[in-house]
Amino acid sequence: MPDTPTEHQQALLREIDHELMQLDHLPELSDQRYHETHDTFEAASNQRAMILEWLDGWAATSLEVERAEVLSVGCGGGTMDLQIVETLMGHCGSLALAGVDPNPLHTRAFADCFADRVAEVTVATSPFEEYETDHRFDVIHFIHCLYYFEDLEQSLKRALTMLKPSGKMLVLNAPNGLLNHLAHRIWKRQWNRTAWYTEDILPIVRRTERPVQVDRLDAWVDVTSSLDESSEHGRLILDFIVQAETSRLPARLQELLRDYLDAIARSEDGRRLAPHPVDAIAV
Ligand SMILES: C[S@@+](CC[C@H](N)C(=O)[O-])C[C@H]1O[C@@H](n2cnc3c(N)ncnc32)[C@H](O)[C@@H]1O
Repeated sequence: MPDTPTEHQQALLREIDHELMQLDHLPELSDQRYHETHDTFEAASNQRAMILEWLDGWAATSLEVERAEVLSVGCGGGTMDLQIVETLMGHCGSLALAGVDPNPLHTRAFADCFADRVAEVTVATSPFEEYETDHRFDVIHFIHCLYYFEDLEQSLKRALTMLKPSGKMLVLNAPNGLLNHLAHRIWKRQWNRTAWYTEDILPIVRRTERPVQVDRLDAWVDVTSSLDESSEHGRLILDFIVQAETSRLPARLQELLRDYLDAIARSEDGRRLAPHPVDAIAV
């Protein structure tokens, strides 16, 4: 499916913009709500499975250490890192894991997740921009977190200085595609700037003159329940997609958000699947 909206989709986006401009206040996601919605959203998508398959292939050719020291930036609650660790352990003898995330609910869940699983695990509650460490890593990954960063270029360059000489930086990030056009608008309204997408990241990593590999993974997310206004499950997914507490938005805006989701989705086996691509960037 193309990334450029059709005329119908563009008309809906214009109406959404108009409605957003009328709002005095944007009900952004609290730390608590973000934590509740994130895993439900991911569970409705095949994207994590595709990322893990890609990572397995990448590690088979590029992870050349017996003991891997890994930093997960924007680590979230640990659900994804558990699977990442399992995947990487298929290609190295042992692994030490550090996580960093500003959301204390996430870092608490992350610590609980790994308590009995990885011998060497540390986690810091902080934005990456303020994270201090003397460690040097074999792998630093940014999975779906760069959208939120203040200074993208500075953070990516800083991460490169935290790598061992043979270390690799991995970025898994969405392009500015059809699904993200919703969150994009909320962020623009909220911060007066948009989130960072692949289109912003690639020029920066290319300027480092290091070899860069980019693969597009064409995943989908099942939005069937989000089209039903009475579904709590659907509300969790919609809130994460839009990055706002949608039940606190005017009814007309909520309706437009559902119409837009429906307009970008395709039907398969009685489900409505919206495109949920991710770019895998290895530096
Ligand atoms: C979509 S979640 C991804 C979590 C995890 N990487 C995963 O793939 O499941 C984005 C995460 O980025 C974190 N984040 C936001 N701003 C950040 C920053 N400045 N530094 C580090 N992490 C940040 C959020 O708290 C959130 O946990």
